[in-house]
Amino acid sequence: MGQGVLHRYGEYLPLTDETPMITIGEGDTPLVRSRVIEKELGVGKLYFKLEGCNPTGSFKDRGMVVAVAKAMEAKAEAIMCASTGNTSASASAFGARFGLATYVLAPKGRIAKGKLSQALVHGANLVSVDGNFDEILRIAQALTDKYELAFVNSINPHRIEGQKTAAFEIVDDLGAAPDYLMVPVGNAGNITAYWKGFKEYADLGKVSRRPRMMGFQAAGAAPIVEGRPVENPQTVASAIRIGNPASWDGALAAEKESGGAINKVSDDDILDAYSAMAEKEGIFGEPASAASVAGLYNMARDGQDFRDASVVCVITGTGLKDQEIALQSGGTFLEAASTVEGVEGALGLSRARSIHQDE
Ligand code: F0G
Repeated sequence: MGQGVLHRYGEYLPLTDETPMITIGEGDTPLVRSRVIEKELGVGKLYFKLEGCNPTGSFKDRGMVVAVAKAMEAKAEAIMCASTGNTSASASAFGARFGLATYVLAPKGRIAKGKLSQALVHGANLVSVDGNFDEILRIAQALTDKYELAFVNSINPHRIEGQKTAAFEIVDDLGAAPDYLMVPVGNAGNITAYWKGFKEYADLGKVSRRPRMMGFQAAGAAPIVEGRPVENPQTVASAIRIGNPASWDGALAAEKESGGAINKVSDDDILDAYSAMAEKEGIFGEPASAASVAGLYNMARDGQDFRDASVVCVITGTGLKDQEIALQSGGTFLEAASTVEGVEGALGLSRARSIHQDE
């Protein structure tokens, strides 16, 4: 344990004798049982897969470790990606650690500050491009075709290979696949990867059934749900503000083959679920991650019966990355002078009833 994805799941990954067994400490993330939302929605068993516990704060480290190891095996000296922030944070950390020059294209003004600071602090060559994710992904692809740069977006199949290990971990922890897997969908690499992982474990006989795959897009950025690309995608969940997902076909295959669905959730639903997770479960996910929980709320509200079901919601990234949204989404603080009386007054505590006597 703690040795990373290549050591733990190397036998299921495209490794050779020449692949360097690198790690940044990715994988082995907690699968935590719900305490409140499970009962509130009448779900048999509800779990959260806390992918924000990866070293750079999102699931991207799982795929990046494989993509970077294969790039190093191929003697690459530089890597490039376009990103809504988490892929670039992960690429920048791996680039710094393993001595690769890292080139990052970020959609100008559309990326959470925490993620931007990660690329900067790791010393990436960061270009803020005046375009949306779909546009800059095409630019990154063109540049990696033209120059000696390893392309580490999830179009790179090694990314999908690494990300599928999250499905393995869920099965290894539960001893079975859940009935439903709820996951946010942006560029659609992650839903594609989870489905690949669940299918492979089933094909190997390690698990007898596979989950229904439930993908959730933000309503203003829901090309797969609408059935056509969205030119100007909009959502509060900047990580999934994507109008033309690269792994569109993979998402459709996951939906169809698993008997699942890809639906949309409104920004209000996303922010409600974001607060519910934080206030009721103590889980601080980023807004995009809350799309999975918002989707569960909507399905329960629409009358879906989860009484006998096990459900895993993937919390793809930590809420600390996007503090602006956190500070805007309610909650307030008091102010006081720097005295015992000042704080007593601000909190409305009285001498007669101290907190200790209340216990
Ligand atoms: N959740 C988070 C926190 C993400 O950062 C992303 C994607 C997704 C969900 C959606 O996953 O794209 O595989 O469907 N972030 C990418 C990035 C696009 O550049 O960091 P997906």
